[in-house]
Parts: sequence; structure tokens; C-alpha cells
Amino acid sequence: MCGIVGAVSQRNIVPILLQGLQRLEYRGYDSCGVAVHQGGELKRARSTARVTELDAQVHQDGIEGFIGIAHTRWATHGAPAVHNAHPHFSHGVGADAQSSKAGRIALVHNGIIENHDELRAELQARGYVFNSQTDTEVIAHLVDSLYQHDLFEAVLQAIQRLKGAYAIAVFCREEPQRVIGARAGSPLVLGVGQGENFLASDAMALAGVTDQIVYLDEGDVVDLQQGKYWISGRKTEGGFARVERPVKTVHAHSGAAELGPYRHYMQKEIFEQPRAIGDTLEGIAGITPDLFGDDAYRVFQSIDKVLILACGTSYYSGCTAKYWLESIAKMPTQVEIASEYRYRDSVPDPKTLIVTISQSGETADTLAALKHARSLGMAQTLTICNVSTSAMVRECKLAYITRAGVEIGVASTKAFTSQLAGLFLLTLALAQSRGLLSEAEEAEHLKAMRHLPVALQAVLALEPQVIAWAEEFASKENALFLGRGLHYPIALEGALKLKEISYIHAEAYPAGELKHGPLALVTAQMPVVTIAPNDALLEKLKSNLQEVRARGGELYVFADGDTKIESGPGLHVIRMPEHYGPLSPILHVVPLQLLAYHTACARGTDVDKPRNLAKSVTVE
Ligand code: F6R
Repeated sequence: MCGIVGAVSQRNIVPILLQGLQRLEYRGYDSCGVAVHQGGELKRARSTARVTELDAQVHQDGIEGFIGIAHTRWATHGAPAVHNAHPHFSHGVGADAQSSKAGRIALVHNGIIENHDELRAELQARGYVFNSQTDTEVIAHLVDSLYQHDLFEAVLQAIQRLKGAYAIAVFCREEPQRVIGARAGSPLVLGVGQGENFLASDAMALAGVTDQIVYLDEGDVVDLQQGKYWISGRKTEGGFARVERPVKTVHAHSGAAELGPYRHYMQKEIFEQPRAIGDTLEGIAGITPDLFGDDAYRVFQSIDKVLILACGTSYYSGCTAKYWLESIAKMPTQVEIASEYRYRDSVPDPKTLIVTISQSGETADTLAALKHARSLGMAQTLTICNVSTSAMVRECKLAYITRAGVEIGVASTKAFTSQLAGLFLLTLALAQSRGLLSEAEEAEHLKAMRHLPVALQAVLALEPQVIAWAEEFASKENALFLGRGLHYPIALEGALKLKEISYIHAEAYPAGELKHGPLALVTAQMPVVTIAPNDALLEKLKSNLQEVRARGGELYVFADGDTKIESGPGLHVIRMPEHYGPLSPILHVVPLQLLAYHTACARGTDVDKPRNLAKSVTVE
């Protein structure tokens, strides 16, 4: 998704800006650009190609400067095209539009401005000329229209006219010493260097430049100059006042992690799962609410239901956890897609624990759903999140930080299984706090959890068998995924993985639901992937498989060893190494990830950056 980098220094900051963009590249983008103050003018380069091409263009055009801003864009308003790429310049009014005064304000923006049509009409009526279809250009002109020799003041006034979400970085031709940043609804951090300061939408963009990071709060505006900065925060009674925000030492990893022997980051991340789960569970000697924060014991005593809010793959980990929470902790649990929950009328109950799940911790819909739940009086909040410095962790009372490490592939894999590990721990901690977990049960679950890395290695060893299936899947255009109970969300996740990276249309159903409609789709052309653990629903599932076979459907079954499901005509079986009780979803999802990955490779898609998608969805 969109990325911002900005800098004020005494050295040429273009290499820092471009490296920053490169570190954010993995999130997905369709155009990029950089602008600097050079020779009393605004200079910029923009491209719909990769950041490396932008780099070449910058060198060719001799673009250098001591202050500047840069951006990777993921199109929302206006097609991915050079004229829509950021930075946007304001173009002055009337005669100024054609004169050397053209290009006074340079601006980059993440987020969506909801009242951009209204502002555009107003600015056009005043003579501003628009060169793009973006909502961002509206902000550039708006700042220009309010500018009276103080950029900070102009930005303060401009943001009070904006409705929607934004993180912006702005500089002005007439003030070559400062860059102004502001945020509301989209993340922005300040990087403090030696005599130089930086802005970025993620601390990762500044890895290797500075580890001194200030996380700007909602509504903050920051004035960056050489060796100094000021932050203004929104006052509850309205207006702004100078505020101090803590500087944190953040060891952000560079997004450009080594690929090693792997072809893609997704493959690397699938194979990192034994390590990711091992790290996520490291040091856990026993189950205790303290794992989730100092106040967790009191919070757990005060709630009698759970509401999980998340998007995409993280939503499916929540759906899996519902089965655990209701069967092991006997805790009534509801799971909602964040973008739905935030806009619907619901019945709040203050005795609810709100659990958000997020890899990035910056997903706009999940953050908004959390705030919505809080505004309804549900104050007990907990997050399962992979980024300890994220807005989600800062916004929630309690947290469990998964240690999957930086996930670069857009399709989430190791973050998902690490979330499941965190959610299983939460289930056990809630069960314990309700007196539903005996010491023997605790010991048994802990033993199974500690064995997960080894069990995962055995599943990863199935890769050659999965590759053989993937070659057959590559020529298909549709696929069905079936699961029951605890494994129905895993079927959903398998279908999501296949569709997002191979572009094969895939749908998942609870196997028992087949005859209520989707069975009509089953022909010899329709591969039906089935998750067949040796659990209480196995016999029911076998009947569902018969229903598919009777209609000529081709079954591809991941079956636990002792299920007695054998390969035969129209029935392909890959045998899972061992049955894993309640933790079985963590193992069964792995061959589905591999199937999606190898099918996508066979179809030649851009596996790590699937079309139209972005990592870390910071807009609504
Ligand atoms: C799919 C995928 C997305 C994310 C979703 C939520 O592979 O990665 O569906 O799961 O955008 O993102 P986070 O977990 O960062 O909130």
C-alpha cells in the first residue's frame, strides 16, 4: 500500500528517500515518485515502473536536494499513471500557473480524502488547475490557497478542512528549510537523526538511517527542520497545542531481507513457519494471563464473552479461534469482519473482550472497528499482532505479540499460523482464569505446542507431492475447498490463498453445506480440495466426499494418517504426518499454502506482489 518518506538534512537526501521507498516496496504499489527543493525550485521525478527505474531517472535528471519527500502509490482515486503519481505540486492561480511560481507546494499523501469533490470544486472556482484525478492534488492546492509565508500554519488550517484519513508530508518552494507532516487515520512516524530529521509511514523505511523513532498520535502535525522538530497535537476542546511525544529506540528490520535459496518471499515465509511458531511460543513455561499484559488477570475476570475483529486472513484465524474459545474456554465468541462491524448497528455489551487480530497492526478497517467498539462502551481490548510498535498495539490495553518476523509476501502465511498460536494461548489463558484448565490439561497442551515446529517440518516435507498437484491445478479456472468444524476456516484460508496469488476462482464451504447449493458446480473440471483430519466429524466428511465422487468431481484430499481414505479413481490423497488434535489447523493450512504457491508459480503470476493487492491496507 502507499508509502511515504521525507527528509530534512545538510546532505543530499535523495539516496535516503529512494532507499526508504525500496524498503516499503514489498507492500505493493503501482507508481512512485520523489520531489526535492533544488536551485530555488521544486524538482520531481515520477514513474509507473519500479523504484529502481525511478532511481535511474533521478540520476539522469540530476535531481538532488537537502529537503524532499517520496512516495509509493497504490491507486485509489485515478488510474495508476504518471500524472496521478505523487508528489503532487500546487500550480498557482491565474498568471502564476504559467509562471515560475508554478509548483509552490509539493505534497505526498496516504489515505483517502472523502470530501475531495467538494474541495476540488471550490478550488477550481478560485482558479486552481488540476492535472490529476487524485484526492491528493486537492490537498496540495488547498495548502497553497492558505499559504501566507508559513507552511506549518497553512497545513494546520488545511487539515481542518479535510474529512477522511491521511498521512501527509509537504514542503514549500519558499521555505527550503522545513518539511511538514500530519496524520489522522493513517500512520506516520518521525525519525530523529544527528542534525537531520525524517518522516515515514513505517519505521522500516528508515532502517539503517535512524533507530530513534517518534510515533505520531492521531491528529499530530510535525514541523521538521535540520536538527530540530516541533509537534502540535489536537486539543480535546479544539485547536492545536505543542506536545512532547516519546522517542523510542526501534530496531526496524529492513524489508529487503535475503531470499536465500527460495524463489519468492512467500515460499521463504512458508518454510519459516517452524521458526516463527517456535519464536512466538518461546519462553512460555506455563499458562498465565500475564502473557497478555499486567492487567490481563483483572480484565479476564471482568468479561463473559469475546468479540473478534479482523480482516482477510487474520479474520480466518479469528474464525478458527472461535472453535477453540467455545469448546475449551466455554467463552461465547463472535467473529466479525472489521469493515462490516464498524458500520452496522450492533448490540454492545461492556462485559465483552474485544480481540483484534492483525499482522501489520495498521489495517485501517480493523483500527476503526476497534475504536467503534470502544465508542460503544466496550473498554476491554486485546490484540494479537505481529508488530509491537504498531497503532494496534498502542491502542489496545492488552497484547500478545507474535514473532513471525517481517512478512514481505503480500499473501500472509507465517503471520497466520503465528496468530493461531497466539490465539490458542489466549484460549488456554481464558480457560484457566475460568477454572476450566486442569494442570494435566495445561501440561498436555503445552507439550503439543512445543512440538509444533517439529510437526510443521514434517508437513513441509510434503512439498514435492503438492507440486505434482499444483501442475494439474495450473490449468483450472475454478476450485472448491471443503472443511468441517475447526477446519472450515482453514478451507476458507486455502481458497483465499489460491485466488489471491494464482487468480483461480476458489470458494470454500463447510462440507455439510455442499448439497444445499454448491454441489451443482461439481463436474470433472472442478477440483475439490478437502481437509480431512481424523476428528469427530470424519465419518460425516467421508459421506460428503462420496457426494462429490458420485457427480464425477475430482477430489484432492489432505488426510490424516489413520483416516483410511485411500487414493483411487478421481480421489487423490496426500497423507498428513500425524493427527494433531485441536492444533491440527496450524498443520493443515501449510499444504494449502504450498498448493497455492506452486499453482501460482506454474501459472507464472507475480507471487509476492499479486495484481491489485497491497500489504498493510492502511486505507478503508
Ligand atoms: C491475505 C492477506 C490479507 C490480510 C488482511 C489483514 O493473504 O494477507 O487478507 O490478512 O489485509 O491484514 P492485517 O493482518 O495486517 O490486519
